[in-house]
Amino acid sequence: MEIFVVPTASATGSVAAGILAAVIRSKPDAVLGLATGGSPLPIYKALAGHSVDMSSVSGLALDEYVGLPAGHSQSYAEVVRREVTERLQLDPAKVAVPDGSAADPERAAAEYDSAIAAAGGIDVQILGIGHNGHLAFNEPGSALDSRTRVEVLTERTREANARYFSTPEEVPLRCITQGLGTIMEAGHLLLVVNGADKAGILAAALNGPVTAACPASILQRHPHVTVVADEAAASLLASGSGQVAVRVEGAAAGV
Ligand code: F6R
Repeated sequence: MEIFVVPTASATGSVAAGILAAVIRSKPDAVLGLATGGSPLPIYKALAGHSVDMSSVSGLALDEYVGLPAGHSQSYAEVVRREVTERLQLDPAKVAVPDGSAADPERAAAEYDSAIAAAGGIDVQILGIGHNGHLAFNEPGSALDSRTRVEVLTERTREANARYFSTPEEVPLRCITQGLGTIMEAGHLLLVVNGADKAGILAAALNGPVTAACPASILQRHPHVTVVADEAAASLLASGSGQVAVRVEGAAAGV
């Protein structure tokens, strides 16, 4: 595992985008796993500034709410369209999001795992981490080998995501999420984290025991993980734990 510590949230985007641009230059038809939420937005903004041909790149979203009407501005299908597909000029036919408005969401979830396999698997999976340690929407207690499925969102997660909705009650109760086992099959996991409010859970995930109580702790078992964290989020990480930590400053951090 390599950990880049950068001064600001916007610098997490610059460093992570640099990694993705290098991947796409060496593999123009790379398959990217797309996280939503606030953490990866600086990545997509920074990646748009790289002169890299994105026309053959595919994208597969990490998760989607269940039950929002099609076209809802906060559905991840819409967020991915606005923030990723349009911004990066991806081919919309090469971008997929789980079908959260399917009549049978469990079936849509199983089909999504098949779609990932049909795409040849995910080369780089972009990830954020929830305050309770969730990875994608795998809430605490999720099986470490779980597949893409319907999951019930915890109150903590609904509270955190209420900022995107007019009222907290509007936040959906369920979602379709890639499973932890699904995520672990990606070739490279790229976790981006910012803010002091994530420092405790990031340390628990990277330095604590691997346990379903902290789903993101599964990262410790993947052979190729890159963490890009701002100083506030990295402030409680143990030093000398065998993980390679690099402090990136100045122009190299895009600041
Ligand atoms: C989003 C996702 C979630 C978020 C996590 C952190 O697709 O799967 O796991 O990454 O909830 O969200 P932010 O970045 O908004 O703090």
